[in-house]
Parts: sequence; structure tokens; C-alpha cells
Amino acid sequence: MTTAAQADAKTYPPSAETVARAHVDAAKYADMYAASISDPDAFWGEQGKRIDWIKPFTQVKDVSYEFGSVKINWYADGTLNVSANCLDRHLKTRGDQTAIIWEPDDPNDPAQHISYAELHRRTCRMANILESLGVRKGDRVVIYLPMIPEAAYAMLACARIGAIHSIVFAGFSPDALAARINGCDAKVVITADEAPRGGRKTPLKSNADAALLHCKDTVKCLVVKRTGGQTTWIDGRDFDYNEMALEADDYCAPAEMNAEDPLFILYTSGSTGQPKGVVHTTGGYLVYASMTQEITFDYHEGDVYWCTADVGWVTGHSYIVYGPLANGATTLMFEGVPTYPDASRFWQVCEKHKVNQFYTAPTAIRALMGQGNEFVEKCDLSDLRILGTVGEPINPEAWTWYNEVVGKGKCPIVDTWWQTETGGHLMTPLPGAHAMKPGSAMKPFFGIEPVVLDPQSGVEIEGNGVEGVLCIKDSWPGQMRTVWGDHERFEKTYFSDYKGYYFTGDGCRRDEDGDYWITGRVDDVINVSGHRMGTAEVESALVAHAAVAEAAVVGYPHEIKGQGIYCYVTLMNDREPSDELMKELRTWVRTEIGPIASPDVIQWAPGLPKTRSGKIMRRILRKIAENDFGSLGDTSTLADPSVVEDLIENRANK
Ligand code: WTA
Repeated sequence: MTTAAQADAKTYPPSAETVARAHVDAAKYADMYAASISDPDAFWGEQGKRIDWIKPFTQVKDVSYEFGSVKINWYADGTLNVSANCLDRHLKTRGDQTAIIWEPDDPNDPAQHISYAELHRRTCRMANILESLGVRKGDRVVIYLPMIPEAAYAMLACARIGAIHSIVFAGFSPDALAARINGCDAKVVITADEAPRGGRKTPLKSNADAALLHCKDTVKCLVVKRTGGQTTWIDGRDFDYNEMALEADDYCAPAEMNAEDPLFILYTSGSTGQPKGVVHTTGGYLVYASMTQEITFDYHEGDVYWCTADVGWVTGHSYIVYGPLANGATTLMFEGVPTYPDASRFWQVCEKHKVNQFYTAPTAIRALMGQGNEFVEKCDLSDLRILGTVGEPINPEAWTWYNEVVGKGKCPIVDTWWQTETGGHLMTPLPGAHAMKPGSAMKPFFGIEPVVLDPQSGVEIEGNGVEGVLCIKDSWPGQMRTVWGDHERFEKTYFSDYKGYYFTGDGCRRDEDGDYWITGRVDDVINVSGHRMGTAEVESALVAHAAVAEAAVVGYPHEIKGQGIYCYVTLMNDREPSDELMKELRTWVRTEIGPIASPDVIQWAPGLPKTRSGKIMRRILRKIAENDFGSLGDTSTLADPSVVEDLIENRANK
């Protein structure tokens, strides 16, 4: 792969047509950006009017980044309802317009077009069902569903009655599901019989059954019929959604929520410990998701917009459901995978539904690029106007292929950098405002002040042509507010290393033109196919196996996945390495966490490189995994330097 730096030279200015159509051109960007920084209260006060308030806010921003007393409040005295903003307020003007186009896994099954009026009815019914199961304002509901319209109904239904949802990606294992149900003390889990994906079926209900064995016996399970596959049933605990929906009332009054009431919890990986529950609240989140969806993708009335993410990730929350629906957009929801039945599926769906904005992950682009151009070229992509990427840095080869083969050189690519924690895009080129550079997230969104800090001293590095860790100077409305049940962890994770800033965990370069390039995580988080994973999670899964004494996990460059999972495993004295054991450990990790955490490489390590104080030197392990041991750096502090020679000698990634 070419490094991003090598591709600096070439820029791609937007066409005159793109500029003319865009909500924001270069001059407007400059003006709005300056205004957003010089007077955030005025700027965000104005933007707050994008959405409907029951009781309008009189305060805008109330924020302190001071470690020990971090607080983040936006629009704090306003009240609103998110589902009313995504549904009710559109009914008069666009009740018959399609809100959600649902494209099923199997292309031979019919797609669904769900109008705003229908989405409103479905959401109300789901809300009434949840209420009948005893869910009340402030209660938690776990959603463990495939990419079906009911996932959107469930999210919006929770928002409607003021329940807090926590979505668990359908690829997670029963253990991971149980941890998340217990972590937020959920009252109800919403699942489906099975999740079809790429022609295969995941038994969601039986996963939920297995998870619920480890949860309080008061937790109820609401089951959506997707395939009609066999499930076991426990009367009094399990409830049939489809049957209840026939009886449920078509209207449910939206609850009046405070702007700072939690909207959802979403677990994400960090550099230490188990995943943490990122908490987003109601008012600021919706303002930010809605504004970024409209401006970044230059969404216009009547456009068909498709974000290929899963609602199990933050991208699905902000850019399949909340952002687009708040804007009255038509949003496409896809149940399948890019390569089923073959590598033209994405492009066939674009053709079939005349998609205008298409938003996906670099890992999908790389995988499809490897299949050859004919899969793209046989489809009519003439409606595409904007392309987007998210989740990891995009290498220039993939960017160029996306631009030329998919976009035919006429679609700006928005390389959106953001995080579960940020609620929406923090840096991205805007289609009509910036000349794009392949691999660069370019410019901050309105209200975002990125700073590059020296990693050691924490001092701000001024000027251009510099590199360091990326922090953000001040808050924006979509920022996470806390870690569920652990505000101390929130402060420690994001506000303690670099005092007075929000620490992103990413490294970054500001080039000679002042444009930003994300260089990847500087902590122990890895990014596997755009899925964020803490190496500590995989390590703790490995050491939970009886044969494993110790494990260290690092990322290494992987052609398709971006990063792969490389595990160094030290066995118990009485255990011998074998191929069977290696297979067993792989399956073990999949069972503990889920298939996305499946180790790519396992290397038996008789010992791990440690400092004399017993700290594992991951820097060295990363180098070995990368096959780069010319630059192992200082190994003199190692307790036993011979360990390193052994690891190099027996490395698994030759
Ligand atoms: C990485 C996904 C480079 C980054 C929305 C970040 C990116 C982490 C980009 C968050 C991008 C996301 N270019 N890197 N355009 N977008 N990342 O929480 O390391 O799943 O910190 O949120 O993904 O991943 P998360």
C-alpha cells in the first residue's frame, strides 16, 4: 500500500456543478466555521432550531473539560422527543414519502418501501408493545436484531417513550450479549428468530436464550419473526412481536424528554478493560446527527441515501436512522453483505434504488476492488452523486478506485473521521467546499477545533507540516456525555492524559496546507474491517481458556481488513502447542466475543517481552507482527532479551 503521505501531491477540486448544488461552498464554509468557533453559543443556538422543541431551550452550551469535574450539557433546559422529530413533524408534508427502503439479504425477495406515515404507525405500535411489557421512561432496552425495519421501529419506539436503547450487533456472541444486558440492567431484549446474512442464518433467538441464562429472570424477550425458523419458547418470558403488533394501537403519545436525558447507550472498545457504554443524550445528539447528515452528504430533498453500516454500530445510529430521518430523508437499510450473491451486490442495489449518496467502509471498498471492475461496470451508477467512507483510514489505491471506477470521477468522496464517542462527523471534506486529497479527512466540521499535541509533553504543536496526537479543544453538541454508570472512567479515558482537551486516541498529521490526516490509533485499540476492538478484550478472552497462561494481542497491517488480530499466546506448563489447540482457541474467542474478534494469527510464545517491572512491551510485539524488526528500538529495558529472538525466529507471519 502507498502511504497516505506519498499521495499528498494530488488534489481533486469539486466540479462547478457540485459547487453550484452544494449547501456549503468554500466561502460559506470559511464564514460558518469562523462563526462557529468565535461564538459557539450563537452558532449552535441557531442550529438548535433545526429540530422541533416542545419547550424551547434558553441555554445553549454549558461545558467544562476540567479533569475531575467534566460536564457536558447542550440545550439543557429544552425539552423534545426524538421520534416526534424523526416522524410526526414530517407527516403533514411527507407522510407518503418513503422514509426507509429496505433491501433484504436475498435479492430475489421483495424490497420494502416504508413511508413516513407507515413508519410512524409501526413505531407507535412497537412503543405500545414495549409499554405493555412494563418499559417506562428511563428504562433500558437491549436491541439484538438483524438489519430489518423492526430495528428502526425499535430504536424510535424507545425514543418515543423515553426508554434508553442499547443495540448489540447481531454478530456478537451470547456472552457479549449477556454482558451488555447486565451492564445496563435492561428490562427487555428485542431479538428475532434468525438473522439472514450473506445466505447464512445466525440463530439470534437461541443466542439470546443462551445469554438470558446469565441474566436476571425478570428480563423479557420480545421476538420478531424474520425467517420463521424454529425457536424454543418460554411462556411468560418470551413475547411474539408479530402477534402483539396486530393488536397494538397505532398511536402512542411521544414522551417529553429533557435535552440531556439519555437517548442511547452503545458499547465500544477502549484500550483497557471491557467495552464501555458510551452515553448519548437527546437534544444535542439529534441536532448534530441531522446537521452533519445534511451537509456532509449534501443531502437534498428527494435524494435516496444509503449508508451500508449496521445499526449495531454508531454509524448506523447517526447515519441510517436518526440523522436522515430527522431530515425527512429517504434512507436505505440493507440486510445483506457486499459480496452476496456476488461482488456486484452493492452496485446492483445502487442501480435498483437509484441511490444518490453512498456511504461505506474502506474495508468493503478494498474487498470489492480485489474482485475486479466488471462487477461495478455492469451496473448503472449514473444516479450516484456523493460517495463517503468511514471507520478507518482509506489507502490511496482504494480511494482512487472508488473515485474512478465507482464514482466515474464525478462524485466527491467524503472521508469522514469520527468516533462512537463523537456522535457524528468531526472531520471531513465537504463536497462543494474542499479540494479532496485521497486519504485525508481534510477539515474540521463546524464548531470542531482539532489540535495536534506532542504525545509526551502534551503541548500544542502549532503550524503546519506537523504530527502528534489528536485532541479536540472544546465540545460540540453530539459529544458523548458519560460512560454508563462510570463517570470516573469517562473522565479518565478522555480528559486525563491531556488536561483541558478531549483526547481522541488517534494520531494525526496536519500537512503543509493545514489539512488533517488520521494516522491511526495511538492506544491499544485496533480497527479490524472497520470494527473497533480492544486488544485487552481479546487477551482476556484468551486467558479465560484453561490452556492459556498469558496472552498479548496486537494489530498488524492486513490487506483487506486494514488491521488483523495477531495473538501471542503462552501456554500453561502442562500444555503443548498443537494445530488442534490453535483451532480451539480461535473458536473460543469467537464464542467469547463474536466472529469479528476471530484471531487472524496465533503465535505460540514461550515468553513475552517484559520490562523488569513486568509490563509487556507491546511496541516490540507490534513490530514483530508487522515483520519489521530492523527497528525494534530500545530493548535494553527488557527483563529477558532472548525472548525477542525466539519470537522473531518463530514468528507466524513470515
Ligand atoms: C477510526 C466509527 C481514519 C479512528 C465512526 C477512530 C477513522 C475510530 C476514520 C472510531 C477515517 C474512523 N479515517 N480513521 N475516516 N473514521 N476512524 O468508534 O481510529 O467504531 O478513532 O466509530 O475509527 O471507531 P468507531
